[in-house]
This record gives sequence, C-alpha cells and structure tokens, in this order.
Amino acid sequence: MTSTDWLIVLSVIMTALSFYMFSKYNYYRSLVKQRGSLMRWPIKSISLPEVDSVFETNEFGPTIKTSVEFIGRGHLIVPGGTSDTEAWVLSVLAKKAKRIFEFGTCTGKTAYLMAQNSPTDAQVITLTLPPEQITAYEVASEDSKRATRDALSESKFARFLYSGTPAEKKITQIFDDSKHFDETLYESQIDLIFVDGSHALSYVNSDSAKAFRMVSPGGLILWHDYRGRYQTMDVYKALNKLSKERPLYHIEGTSLVVFRDPR
Ligand SMILES: C[S@@+](CC[C@H](N)C(=O)[O-])C[C@H]1O[C@@H](n2cnc3c(N)ncnc32)[C@H](O)[C@@H]1O
Repeated sequence: MTSTDWLIVLSVIMTALSFYMFSKYNYYRSLVKQRGSLMRWPIKSISLPEVDSVFETNEFGPTIKTSVEFIGRGHLIVPGGTSDTEAWVLSVLAKKAKRIFEFGTCTGKTAYLMAQNSPTDAQVITLTLPPEQITAYEVASEDSKRATRDALSESKFARFLYSGTPAEKKITQIFDDSKHFDETLYESQIDLIFVDGSHALSYVNSDSAKAFRMVSPGGLILWHDYRGRYQTMDVYKALNKLSKERPLYHIEGTSLVVFRDPR
C-alpha cells in the first residue's frame, strides 16, 4: 500500500472511532441524566397524583379537573422559564389557592397563569429584582458564579406579560431583593409558593426559609430547577440539604420539588 492508501485507512479508522466515542458519550450522558441509573438524586421522586389527587388519571389521561387557561412555550426557549408541564402543574394547583406567592417574576408568565387560573378572589404576590435595583443583590462566598450571573442577567424586566391585562388586578408586584424582603407580613398565609428567584446557594437558602415561614397550614411550596449536579447546582445542593430536615419530593417528569405543610 502507498502512503496515501495508509492515510485513507487511518482517516477512516479515526472517523469510525470518533463516531463510536461520541455515541458512547451520549449514552453515558443520558444514563447520568436518568434518575436512579448511575447517580441517584437524594430527593425521592413522586408522581403527580401523589402530589395532589386532582392529577389522578383515567383511561384518557389527566381529567378535565386539570383543564386550565394556558400559554405554551411554542418553539422558544425563554431563559429561566418553566416547561409546559411545569407551567400546567402550577396552573392546576393555583385553581385551589387563595393566596399565591412567587419568588422571581421574570417575564411574568407564571404569575399571569396562576392569576388566570386561581379563584376570582385570589391574590398573586410576585417578587422580583428590577434592573435599576441590581446593586442591592448580595453575593455570598458560597454562591456559584454562574448562578449569580444568571440571576443578574434575568433581572431585566420591569414590565410583564400580565401588564395591562385583566389578570393584573389580582397581582401584587413587589420590586425588591429577596434577602431584603420582609416575609413576616405573610406569616402562615400563603397557600401556594413558587420559589424561582436567584438560583445562587445563599438565595435559595434564604428564599426557602422565608417560604417555610409564609406557607399556610396544608399549603404547598414548589421549587424550580432541581436538575442534578451539573445544571443549577446550587439549587441541587440547597434542596438536598434541606431534604434532610423536611419532607421534600421531586415531581417526576419535571424539575419541580414540592413540600406540603403537614399542619
Ligand atoms: C428564573 S426567573 C423566574 C421565572 C418565572 N418564575 C417564570 O416562570 O416565568 C428568575 C427571576 O428571579 C429574579 N431574581 C433574581 N435575583 C433576585 C433577587 N435577589 N431578588 C428577587 N428576585 C430575584 C430575576 O429578576 C428573575 O426575574
């Protein structure tokens, strides 16, 4: 064989090898992502009907009890936004909630959906850091740089999806840094809390402690972005630690973690 022949053989072998390595990489990556395969996440998963009986299914799937007013994601990836399933879960749970609190408004989509689907006399309180107040943000040494960067870059809204809509009259918008926000005003009063503000460790800890003070007897707290150690790792760390003190459950097929107040 000539040296050109050898070069061709070598490049064919190298290409085949790269395809093989790439498929193996994807295979192991999907295993890591699957719960219970290579690495089991500390927080136990439960199904939606275990969260609330409203999600019980029949032969057609979820029943009309879970019908909601909805806006899907379409083909867009909105930064920091919920998946369609997560938005639907929050909308369904909002149907039974009189007082709802959200850490992290962002575009205001979740606030809008919870307002539209909650009872007519319900109130949705949503807290966010507006662009002109980002200097109030308090970075702690344990916070990951990425979470801090994301929190600040998502703090760019001062007008929201619900602005100017009929849902607005049910929504109380608070502009503040969540570490400065005084939760004692709402002690034991909130039926549904969505923790989705800064995903930095010190903020998840602080927002969670406030959520536990605000939740009403029998009320629910949901956290967004429990995705394992490689994405939003501060949320993963904070919630795993918290799960040693409180009964927290990961909701199957979502990045939501839930706590139901036992009182
Ligand atoms: C992931 S987005 C929320 C998405 C929203 N819940 C939704 O589903 O449409 C995070 C939000 O938290 C807000 N945020 C970040 N750091 C904050 C802080 N320290 N205090 C209050 N809000 C904060 C950001 O401004 C952003 O609006």
